[in-house]
Amino acid sequence: MSDTTIHASPLTLHHARNSLDWSVKSWFAIALSGQWMFAAYVFFMYAFTYTRGIDISELSPASGVKNLQGIDKAVLFTHITPAIYLALFGLFQLVPAIRNRYKAFHRLNGRIFLLLGLSGAFTGLYLQLGKGLTFSQGIVLNGLLIIIAVGCAWYYAVKKRFDLHQRWAIHAFILVNGVWTFRLYLMGWYLVNQGPNGNTPNVDGPMDIFLSFACYLLPMAIAELYFRTKKQTSQSQIWIGVVVMAMGALITLTGVIAATLMMWTPRILQVLAAG
Ligand code: HEM
Repeated sequence: MSDTTIHASPLTLHHARNSLDWSVKSWFAIALSGQWMFAAYVFFMYAFTYTRGIDISELSPASGVKNLQGIDKAVLFTHITPAIYLALFGLFQLVPAIRNRYKAFHRLNGRIFLLLGLSGAFTGLYLQLGKGLTFSQGIVLNGLLIIIAVGCAWYYAVKKRFDLHQRWAIHAFILVNGVWTFRLYLMGWYLVNQGPNGNTPNVDGPMDIFLSFACYLLPMAIAELYFRTKKQTSQSQIWIGVVVMAMGALITLTGVIAATLMMWTPRILQVLAAG
């Protein structure tokens, strides 16, 4: 079949667009379950334990819980606990039906998301660069890019340039979730390799560093490809977009399964046992 024939068939073009839509919806459903698992983990480890007076210095993987005091410890908790809100409600911003039908919710949720994301970037940079807590190198650039993307998403919303607002808001969403994606990629990598491979306990091995950049650069590249694919009229180009989106969904699924089984569920169970 020639490419002209491919262009000319509205039915197959419709089929390709439908598949693109489904690949995005599949990614969304997988990501939502992973985000809610992460919210549950942060809730049990850092909020539930606080209300029950459980000492988490031996339970939490965050070294700052043990090593920081006073105001710095408060900064650590201000950094960590908003992840519960971000992970519970962030994805709703991407649902067109919610955006169009519940505009007031979209605006309020968007403002909260961007403000908490910004606060996460500043407090994270303070903890890493100011207090020397360990996190892999790529996350510093992640923090700086959050500030730029949030600024641009907000600016274009105020200017009512909703095409550019949406684009920057999606990049802000991906960047704010960089540390979540990092955990998916890291645990997915452990699962596939049946253990660490190029990783260290201080998360500064070659693979840790690679994943700490890939955790936002790869989803941002996929999002850009999606924006371009949506405007395509060439069926073959749309199918390329479908394959890339489906691979993105598969990587996310592997990461969600791995992080749930190897990281979040065991830690939630430890907290419940301590309570
Ligand atoms: C807004 C996005 C972010 C969110 C939602 C977030 C969330 C979290 C969470 C939930 C933890 C606890 C770790 C655990 O229990 O597994 C954590 C720890 C930490 N995060 Fe973030 N983070 C974000 C951005 C950043 C950035 C941009 C940096 C650095 C530039 C950073 C640096 C840190 C550090 C240093 C720790 C403590 C590690 C320790 O105490 O050993 N975070 N973050």
